[in-house]
Amino acid sequence: MTATRGLEGVVATTSAVSSIIDDTLSYVGYDIDDLTENASFEEVIYLLWHLKLPNQEELQELKKQLSENAVLPEEIFNHFKSYPIENVHPMAAIRTAVSMLGMLDDNADEMNKEANYEKAVRLQAKIPGIVAAFSRIRKGLEPIQPKKDTSLAENFLYMLKGKDPSPVEVEALEKALILHADHELNASTFTARVCVATLSDVYSGITAAIGALKGPLHGGANEGVMKMLTKIGNVENAESHIQALFQRKEKVMGFGHRVYRNGDPRAKHLKEMSKRLTNLTGESKWYDISKKVEEVVTFEKKLPPNVDFYSASVYHSLGIDHDLFTPVFAVSRTSGWLAHILEQYENNRLIRPRAEYTGPDLQKYVPIDERI
Ligand code: ACO
Repeated sequence: MTATRGLEGVVATTSAVSSIIDDTLSYVGYDIDDLTENASFEEVIYLLWHLKLPNQEELQELKKQLSENAVLPEEIFNHFKSYPIENVHPMAAIRTAVSMLGMLDDNADEMNKEANYEKAVRLQAKIPGIVAAFSRIRKGLEPIQPKKDTSLAENFLYMLKGKDPSPVEVEALEKALILHADHELNASTFTARVCVATLSDVYSGITAAIGALKGPLHGGANEGVMKMLTKIGNVENAESHIQALFQRKEKVMGFGHRVYRNGDPRAKHLKEMSKRLTNLTGESKWYDISKKVEEVVTFEKKLPPNVDFYSASVYHSLGIDHDLFTPVFAVSRTSGWLAHILEQYENNRLIRPRAEYTGPDLQKYVPIDERI
C-alpha cells in the first residue's frame, strides 16, 4: 500500500452536484459564470439540492420554507450571551451553534429522505442568523429578527448591520454567495461526506465541515488575506512584503490551488467586484494593493489567485468584520455541503480508506520497570 500525500488526484466518490473540468467550475452542468450573471442564490440552492433549476412555483416554495425557518431558537442567543465571547473566533462559535441546533432538533436522527431535506432547509435558513447574532451579541447589541419575503443575502446584511443594505451591496453579496456555494470534493465537503457516511446526522456533517473550512489552507484564507493587505498598508510596500514572505518560505494567503492549473474561475468575478466596490467606498487602495500582490505572486511563483483573494476586499467593502469573512463563506457553502450530504445518504457506503504504515515492525510488550 502506497499513500498519496494529501490524496492528490485521488477520485474518492461520484457526484452529480458540481464539477471542475478543464478549469471550468459548474453546478449540475451550469457554468458558474452563467449562474453568477443570471441566477439568485436561492435558485442555486434549489439547483444543488434537486439537481435541476426550479420553476417559479418551486422557487417560491423554497423561499417560503427558508423564510419560515429563519428564526433562531432562544437557546442560541442565550448561549452566545452566557460567556465572554470577545476572544472567541466566530467560526468556533458557529460550529458550536450548529451542533446545538442538532441537540435542539427532536428529528435530528430521523434518517428518511424527507426528514433530512427538512433539516437541510432548517440549517440553511438559520445559518445567516447565527453569524449575524454572534456578531451583534459580541458588540453588546441585541440580535435582529429576520425579515419575511426578503432574499437570504439581503436578510443576512440586514440582520448583521441592523439597517437595510443598498441594492449594490445585496447584489455583490448575492454573487459572492453563488460563487462560494459548491466546489466539488473540497476539504470541507469531503469532511461532511466522511462524517455522514457513518450514517451520522446532518448537523454532525455540517459541524464537521465548518471545522474543516475554518483552517487557513481552506476557507480561513480570506481572513488571512485581509490581515496581509492591512499589514502591507499601501501599494508601495506590496512587493517587499511579498518578497519577504517568499524568503521566509511562508505561503501567500489567497494564492494557489490543488485542482486548478490556469487559475480559479471564481477569482475574476471577485476581482471585478472588488474594483467596483472599493471605488464606491472610496477605498480603492485595497483593490490596488491586491492587484500589485497578484502581479508579484504570479510573476515570481506562477500562482494565480484563488476565490479567497479578492473576496477579502469585497467583504471589507461590504462593511463585514474581517473575522466574519470565513463565516460568510460558510453561509454560502452550507448549501453545497447539504447537497453532498443528501447525495451521500442516497447511495451511501462507509468511507474508510487505508494508511501506509511507517512505524516500527511488530515488537514485544516490555513491562514498565524493565524499560530504559
Ligand atoms: N504561496 C506561496 N507558495 C505556494 C502557495 C502560496 N499561496 N501555494 C502553493 N505554494 C507552493 C508551495 O510552497 C509548494 O512549493 P514547493 O513545491 O517548492 O514546496 C508548491 O507551491 C505546491 O504547494 P502545496 O502546498 O503542496 O499545494 P497543495 O495543492 O497541497 O495546496 C493550497 C493547495 C493549500 C491551496 C496552497 O496553494 C496554499 O496553501 N495556498 C494558500 C492558502 C489558501 O489560499 N487557501 C485557500 C484555497 S481555496 C479554498 O480552499 C477556498
